[in-house]
Amino acid sequence: MDLSTKFDGLMLKNPLMPAAGPLVGDAEKMIWLKDVAGLGAIVAKTISTKMAHIPHPCIIGDNNAIYNCELWTEYSKEKWINEFLPEYCKHKGDVPLILSVGYTKSDMEELIPLLDPFADAFEVSTHYVGSDLKTLADTVSTIRSLTKKPIYMKISPHMPDPEGFARTIKENGANGVVAINSLGPTMAIDIEKRSFKAANDKGFVWMSGPAIKPVALATVYTIKQAEPSLTVIGVGGVASAKDVIEFLLAGASAVGMLSAAMIRGKELYAKILADLPKELEKYGFKSIQDVINASLVKNVKYEAHLPVVDANKCTHCKICYNNCPYFAIEMDENVVPVFDNEKCFRCGLCESRCPVKAISMKK
Ligand SMILES: Cc1cc2nc3c(=O)[nH]c(=O)nc-3n(C[C@H](O)[C@H](O)[C@H](O)COP(=O)(O)O)c2cc1C
Repeated sequence: MDLSTKFDGLMLKNPLMPAAGPLVGDAEKMIWLKDVAGLGAIVAKTISTKMAHIPHPCIIGDNNAIYNCELWTEYSKEKWINEFLPEYCKHKGDVPLILSVGYTKSDMEELIPLLDPFADAFEVSTHYVGSDLKTLADTVSTIRSLTKKPIYMKISPHMPDPEGFARTIKENGANGVVAINSLGPTMAIDIEKRSFKAANDKGFVWMSGPAIKPVALATVYTIKQAEPSLTVIGVGGVASAKDVIEFLLAGASAVGMLSAAMIRGKELYAKILADLPKELEKYGFKSIQDVINASLVKNVKYEAHLPVVDANKCTHCKICYNNCPYFAIEMDENVVPVFDNEKCFRCGLCESRCPVKAISMKK
């Protein structure tokens, strides 16, 4: 199965890369991800002109999300330029290296010339620079004047106008968008301590991981629909080979993952790559490019049907009964659901929640 993906002159042997964060925080970690996890490209932790001053604890996790106030790299630009990047580049091989940089136009004027010799492409974080499109335009055109390499502007979910973001960066010479950065501000409270589990000086953390996948998918889709010529790298909540396929269907050409590897194990990268061929086959795709070429069909219907239950499949768990928001389900003497034609709104929740697919909204 051909897992390769190509965009803007970059050739990736597979579509999976790390998202910027602690797992790519120095050369040793980046080498591990390239060699052991076998990723298609490597992205480094965001480098800026100043080292980040990070409050601790800075990362907490649960089964579905990470909450962090980690900012960008805690190392100086000199450490990256003189140590980490030369060391990593000895091992780089043919795996593209995307250097993440932040944040302002003046940061770019200082950083891009220094980092250009090491980079195959740049990813530029806009997380802390507000949502003014004029400032964005100025930053992008400055970067474009400083490098010939592909430029991907990373969008944060608090950006109010993703279409405007996409149009602005395209008009000013960027190649694409990385969507999305962590979601926030969010909050994690510790009741016992009457305090926060982790927080910046304002009491906030930023959320990532499987819980934010729907936001990321919608942003990828919005940007690709608005500016189809832009490359989109989908990031946010990826945790499985199926998720990779979903992001490619939404409009991405490659996919980044961070948080799921932090809460479910770093071996998840290799597992996703091992699972991808059989998942592609299962859904009738011949290659990664085949998924990228496919488009999502809008299938909005206003005609609705009463749910139907297959009593042979029903395990009598009563999830449908307990979840129904319209109080339209009763259980019969065999503990199989019966749907009230008058009360049922045909919303579809019971079908989506049935763990054994015993309920169907089809006629
Ligand atoms: C602990 C942590 C540190 C992060 N550091 C950076 C960073 O330095 N630069 C950046 O652009 N994004 C950073 N991110 C955001 C991720 O790159 C990614 O956009 C976000 O976590 C969503 O992807 P995920 O759900 O796969 O983690 C960080 C996220 C986490 C959880």
